[in-house]
Amino acid sequence: MKKTPVCLYLWLWLLPASVQAQGGMWLPLHLEKQNEKEMRAMGLKRKADDLYAPNRPSIKDAICQFSGGCTAEVISAEGLLLTNHHCAFSALQRLSSLERNYVEEGFWARSREEELPCPGETATFVVRMEDVTALALQHVTEGMSERDRQSQIDKNIAQIRANARRERWQEAVVRPFYHGNQYFLFITETYTDLRLVGAPPSSIGKFGADTDNWVWPRHTGDFALFRIYADKDNRPAPYSPENRPLRPKYFLPISLSGVEEGDFTMVYGFPGRTDEYLPASAVHQIAEVLNPTRIAIREQTLKILDRYMRSSPAIKIAYVARYASLANAWKKWLGERQGLRTYGVVGKKQAYEAEFTRRISNNPTLNVRYRHLLPRLNETYREIEPYAEARENYLETFLRNIQITAAIANVASWLAEYEKGQIGTFSARKTEIMERMRAGFTGYYLEVDRAVFAALVERYAQTMRPEWGGAFVRQSAEQQGGFDALALHLFATSVFTDSMRWNNLMSLPTPDSIARVLQRDPFLLFWRGVSTPYNEIIGPKWQELQGTLSLLQRQYMAAQLEVFKERRFFPDANGTLRLTYGQVRGYSPRDAVRYEFRTHLDGVMEKYIPGDYEFDVPQRLIDLWKAKDFGPYATRDGRMPVAFIATNHTTGGNSGSPALDAYGNLVGLNFDRVWEGTMSDLYYDPAICRNIMVDVRYILFILDKYAGASHLLKEMKLVKTK
Ligand code: ARG
Ligand code: ASP
Repeated sequence: MKKTPVCLYLWLWLLPASVQAQGGMWLPLHLEKQNEKEMRAMGLKRKADDLYAPNRPSIKDAICQFSGGCTAEVISAEGLLLTNHHCAFSALQRLSSLERNYVEEGFWARSREEELPCPGETATFVVRMEDVTALALQHVTEGMSERDRQSQIDKNIAQIRANARRERWQEAVVRPFYHGNQYFLFITETYTDLRLVGAPPSSIGKFGADTDNWVWPRHTGDFALFRIYADKDNRPAPYSPENRPLRPKYFLPISLSGVEEGDFTMVYGFPGRTDEYLPASAVHQIAEVLNPTRIAIREQTLKILDRYMRSSPAIKIAYVARYASLANAWKKWLGERQGLRTYGVVGKKQAYEAEFTRRISNNPTLNVRYRHLLPRLNETYREIEPYAEARENYLETFLRNIQITAAIANVASWLAEYEKGQIGTFSARKTEIMERMRAGFTGYYLEVDRAVFAALVERYAQTMRPEWGGAFVRQSAEQQGGFDALALHLFATSVFTDSMRWNNLMSLPTPDSIARVLQRDPFLLFWRGVSTPYNEIIGPKWQELQGTLSLLQRQYMAAQLEVFKERRFFPDANGTLRLTYGQVRGYSPRDAVRYEFRTHLDGVMEKYIPGDYEFDVPQRLIDLWKAKDFGPYATRDGRMPVAFIATNHTTGGNSGSPALDAYGNLVGLNFDRVWEGTMSDLYYDPAICRNIMVDVRYILFILDKYAGASHLLKEMKLVKTK
């Protein structure tokens, strides 16, 4: 056999690695340095500085963070803004009434005058970003305590913000990256006059609802349209009828050409949070201890909510959003745990750590600096485990699943002001407390919450250590004759469970008289029984160990950057602007099963269940499908595309992010990930991690053919690339 030179093997090995997506949420500022070459090899037809430029319009100027938790993008010269239906959900809910249910029926403004103001919704653009690591870490020294270090950094950051060059309507924000090894400054602009332009009915925008959530194949038209308004100088301004549509620095052209398997795509947006650099021991803890705790608690809650929602249409309306949000994270944790197990992530991380250890032990300097890291991380994760589990149990039970205790916790912190003698603060907060309680009583069904309470406190008594509150809960139940009896007793007698009793209490004349009633309230006393061990033992110990962990994680991150010089590391997501890129690709979730990359309207019809709350289809859409009235939006083989998947590395917060083609044209709207790959927040595996996008042609089709909103299409810039 002829000998092949070693360098050829090396080259062959490097090539596929260099043109295949490996995940990553990259800093727009560093694309040229870190990614441009690879992106171009994968198909990008633009330059890195077309994507991000600080001093001239670039694609980044079309992207904004939407209301803090999602992403949106400008798609016309008149400030038209595209995001997900599920990101617009709360705005739709607030604008709806029984007569005009925009969530169910959708909404289309026929003119600018009909666009609906949405107080509370915001659009934040990044004007520019800068690496300010050196300034942020000035006077920070190795031997400093964590507390001194942080207070020095806080001072530095205050300086950086004060000195930042910006216009008076702009903001300066500094955020840590790479676990506190780097800092970046962001100059941002936030528009607050947003108006609803259009949204499809839930039977399109939320088609498949919770059953299809996190699952491929998917058939949801998860989109909504807003418009940004600005003052006469095109600057951010509070709502005013005088405001005008924003004239954006840049807006995205929309491609009618669609994508095919293997095509290059990128997703530009604001991913919220990932933890890609945890040691194996921490991943194991998430998969086997923390996730199971959260999952078990939510499972009980969801079962109870479901039972009540099915029994009463009024309860269903009141709880549908709460159910969706509890179920969303629940289902993700399940998928995450399963993915971590199936794909052996703990083992892969252990192999990586073995390589880390091998490398440092070959280098005396690195060895001295870093050899303690993994053993100490492992030891600290072991030490924190019981506290982390108890904390999860406590927070999940009392602050996220049971509604009434979350409200009581808030009132208890208010009462604490009184007990500390801060009567002024106590009185000042009264309005806020009353407002929160009033909001809490709307759409609140006592019998639902009471059933959740009874089930979850029973679980709490079984799972929480006796000395950490488990015994207290058990004894409380025994005194009343069981958990149901305890629930009945507390819900029947407390000021928190009855708006009349509560309002009477609030009308008492003095802080003393209010405090005296609160201090004797049986539910408040119960709350103190469970929260005291948390506040005195679990919380502080967790905090202390978490402090140690964040120090160790910072050092471990720095060590990885130094030890694996040949690798590129992206910083964990932290709610800041990132670009991820990959290729359109199907995947194989298990033996003999292969998923294709695109779904079609035919698939909507396959799933159609008349009258069902998740899988109903509007008649008009059925008619369009039957008539094949797809206009110019169909695929080459004459089918209507709905959604597609690709290897872009995304997470929560990327919802509403634009998917762009090689030229930077909008081809899709990101809204989810596939079930088998939800572990990508902890470990991205290109074999199975996929993001899910609505095909932009489906959005155009719905606007044009379904909603008859051709006036909106006229605003857009539609292009063809093939
Ligand atoms: N799973 C997606 C995300 O994490 C979509 C959630 C909205 N859809 C739903 N059925 N809850 O946000
Ligand atoms: N559905 C998520 C969001 O709302 C996106 C994801 O987690 O993939 O941001």
